[in-house]
Amino acid sequence: MEHRNPAPAEIARQRPPDDPRLDLVAGSVDLPGGPIRYVHPRDAAALLYEEDVAADQSYPPYWAEVWPSGVELARAVSGQDWQGVPALELGCGLGLPSVAVALAGARVLATDRSADALAFAAVNAEQNGARIETAVCSWDDADALVSRGPFRLVLAADVLYGQRNIDELTALLPRLLTADGVVWIADPDRPLTGDFLAATRAGWQSVETTPTQVPEVHLHRLTGPPRVTASG
Ligand SMILES: C[S@@+](CC[C@H](N)C(=O)[O-])C[C@H]1O[C@@H](n2cnc3c(N)ncnc32)[C@H](O)[C@@H]1O
Repeated sequence: MEHRNPAPAEIARQRPPDDPRLDLVAGSVDLPGGPIRYVHPRDAAALLYEEDVAADQSYPPYWAEVWPSGVELARAVSGQDWQGVPALELGCGLGLPSVAVALAGARVLATDRSADALAFAAVNAEQNGARIETAVCSWDDADALVSRGPFRLVLAADVLYGQRNIDELTALLPRLLTADGVVWIADPDRPLTGDFLAATRAGWQSVETTPTQVPEVHLHRLTGPPRVTASG
């Protein structure tokens, strides 16, 4: 039987798949270390909320969008020498920073509470020839993640929204980092970011904020974590 690839016009006429996670859009971003290609669901709003039965909560599928902070964090780490550095990404979504830092030599663990996000991060790494590990992890239940550390580099993009996120990350970040490690957080000046930074400045040795190519997105670098006490 003859097999031929469908013409572009035929593809455009095809019905999208029933599962919106499989209705994909491809994109790419030019970074200092070279371009990164990625795929993501076409319509994040069509995806189901994620159910957290234990916490009796559900969350919007924020992981499925390409957020400017994720792109800017990928840009910031790209092209630098991270050879052999143990790195962790929290709330990785589609995983662009993880891919960029892995291509720059880091040993990367990409994490998110959404298993779907991690499937996309893994595919995005693979299509760029990057090696990353992935693990499901919620910040309120992170003992297993802490035991895989400490990490010299912790990355997070656009995670400083909601008081619960702020509280959980404030408690968790010092537990994840080596004494000489650094946290890089890219953030689009969310309403609670100022509170987070104020609390962080009080406990950490230094917090340095620099602009990115996107005016509202800033990069915050935290070093010198406060000592973790037995109570957390
Ligand atoms: C706004 S999205 C940003 C995604 C990605 N970092 C980016 O910039 O494109 C927030 C991400 O954090 C994850 N997230 C939110 N709260 C979390 C929690 N408590 N534990 C783990 N991941 C969480 C979400 O699943 C989502 O992928």
